[in-house]
Amino acid sequence: MSVVAHYVKWRLGLAAAEGATTAAEADCLVRHACGKKRLAEIGVWQGGTTARLRAAMAPGATLFAVDPFPKGRLGFSTQRAIATREVAKIANGQVVWIRQTAADASRDPIVRSGGFEFVFLDALHTYDGLREDWEAWSPLVANGGVIAIHDSRASPGGHSEDVGGVRFTNDVIVKDDRFEMIETIDSLTVLRRRTVA
Ligand SMILES: C[S@@+](CC[C@H](N)C(=O)[O-])C[C@H]1O[C@@H](n2cnc3c(N)ncnc32)[C@H](O)[C@@H]1O
Repeated sequence: MSVVAHYVKWRLGLAAAEGATTAAEADCLVRHACGKKRLAEIGVWQGGTTARLRAAMAPGATLFAVDPFPKGRLGFSTQRAIATREVAKIANGQVVWIRQTAADASRDPIVRSGGFEFVFLDALHTYDGLREDWEAWSPLVANGGVIAIHDSRASPGGHSEDVGGVRFTNDVIVKDDRFEMIETIDSLTVLRRRTVA
């Protein structure tokens, strides 16, 4: 279905917001987001995961939702329209929307004002794109915090080992001494930042 056709159906209540994760990946993300107080999702799309993270996070927590939401054929971002409406249905804490790329958002003083207990990277999946997002956001993860990267592993029906984001994960992310890998599921890699004295 085209983006415009899906948007019209969603407006009419005939289609749900689209998600980009498998059920197992979504459950894993929710488990790691549960009770966290400062979270970020990089790459929001239609907000299906954002809404689940908002529901799982601690009462009074803040979730940063980062996406440039480029304008589409209708002259506005249908993804943004859907995401903001879907995420507003969940009453928990606050969501800070940042309509920028991951790299630009990482330089925002509000973003840099504290460490993150949970970051979900799901924006750029090329080798250089994931490098840009990893270099921008991995330093913002607090000691003991979790960072999960989508489409970072080859999986049945998903990406192959040749895809840039999978190669960058194998070449760089899993070898990064600042983090330990704690879980993988489908195309998702979950790491925890080691605590340094
Ligand atoms: C795979 S979708 C995200 C799916 C979403 N996390 C979910 O679980 O439903 C990728 C999103 O990344 C956004 N995006 C593209 N380039 C980006 C960038 N440089 N920084 C942040 N987000 C970006 C796109 O606009 C798109 O909405």
